[in-house]
Amino acid sequence: MTKRIAVIPGDGIGPEVIAAGMRVLERVNSQRKLGLEFTHFGWNADEYLRTGISMPPGAMDDIRNNYDAVYLGAFGDPRVPDMKHASDILLGMRFQLDLYVNYRPVKLLNKALCPLKDKGVKDIDMVIFRENTEGAYVGMGGFFKKGTPEEIAIQEDVSTRRGVERIIRYAFDFAKTTGRKSVCMADKNNVMRYGGDLWLRTFEEIAREYPEIEHFHLFVDALTMQMVRAPEMFSVVVTNNMFGDIVTDLGAALQGGLGMAASGNINPGKVSLFEPIHGSAPKYTGKDVSNPVGAILTAAMMLDYLGFAAEGEAIEHAVVAAIDAREATRDIGGSLGTKATGEAILRRLEM
Ligand SMILES: NC(=O)c1ccc[n+]([C@@H]2O[C@H](COP(=O)([O-])OP(=O)(O)OC[C@H]3O[C@@H](n4cnc5c(N)ncnc54)[C@H](O)[C@@H]3O)[C@@H](O)[C@H]2O)c1
Repeated sequence: MTKRIAVIPGDGIGPEVIAAGMRVLERVNSQRKLGLEFTHFGWNADEYLRTGISMPPGAMDDIRNNYDAVYLGAFGDPRVPDMKHASDILLGMRFQLDLYVNYRPVKLLNKALCPLKDKGVKDIDMVIFRENTEGAYVGMGGFFKKGTPEEIAIQEDVSTRRGVERIIRYAFDFAKTTGRKSVCMADKNNVMRYGGDLWLRTFEEIAREYPEIEHFHLFVDALTMQMVRAPEMFSVVVTNNMFGDIVTDLGAALQGGLGMAASGNINPGKVSLFEPIHGSAPKYTGKDVSNPVGAILTAAMMLDYLGFAAEGEAIEHAVVAAIDAREATRDIGGSLGTKATGEAILRRLEM
């Protein structure tokens, strides 16, 4: 059965890393006859500055109705300081396609990439689930007396029972189906009394449905400390939108940096979006220095989501083999460019 994938390279280094990911996807697609069909969309800052339009009318419905997945690079361009196109497209998809699961594996692929003393690949293998459609990112709030010395700014942090329950349940289901031993929920309910209370109550209730999975709660400040001190404590972590945003960057650092990390924005069973977690890194644009591993592992994650787990795993093995051979970009201790790193991974892909 055909699977349709919308490819949106975006801004900055997005097109370079997505080109490397596409080489891998096209190879796997042709060798394994997966029936993937790719459609490229040139929505980015250039297009926005030229036309004033972030996404053409009807585009969101087209993605929703006619695609199985979106493969996206990054957005962000200094010429668009308010990030209008980025927020229309990326946040637009997260909210309008209800991509409520932000899925972030934090897996160390080679001991040499880890900044922590005495920690190795067996110590860093956790999955973080960030709630992706609520919290402080819903854009509720406003100014009062803006621009005056009495200015007040209010930014609401919204948690709904439905939203909290579905991400926590997803985390437990994931732990159960993948044989992971525990789920940790992190919040700040000692000061954020109402939202935190809802999160903790819901967590305890859902945990009772999964007696075989250990569960524990940490304040998010303690989570950050323990991720550095004892990352082996964590198997699955679930948290809200803003805390998840922050701790997943810490997670990326444990894996070797922003260039190494993949992510999924998932609405289970529906069109979902896959992107490396890094941004558009404008200073590296067009220089053939950015690390394509995050984008290539993102392609592997997308294949897994589409039902091609073996192919996803084969890609991860090829990435590990290239890194072990130090055929990698400079940010992780290699000396190759983006393209050559992608080709080194491709050479090791065993199909
Ligand atoms: N999902 C997204 O599209 C997304 C995410 C984060 C930031 N952004 C946007 O990207 C722009 C730049 O933001 P930023 O500088 O804070 O974050 P960034 O992730 O673009 O870059 C931060 C630093 O991380 C390193 N880095 C990132 N990706 C790398 C890669 N593939 N290989 C090697 N090194 C890499 C570089 O040193 C870079 O300077 C901004 O406009 C920001 O809003 C977009």
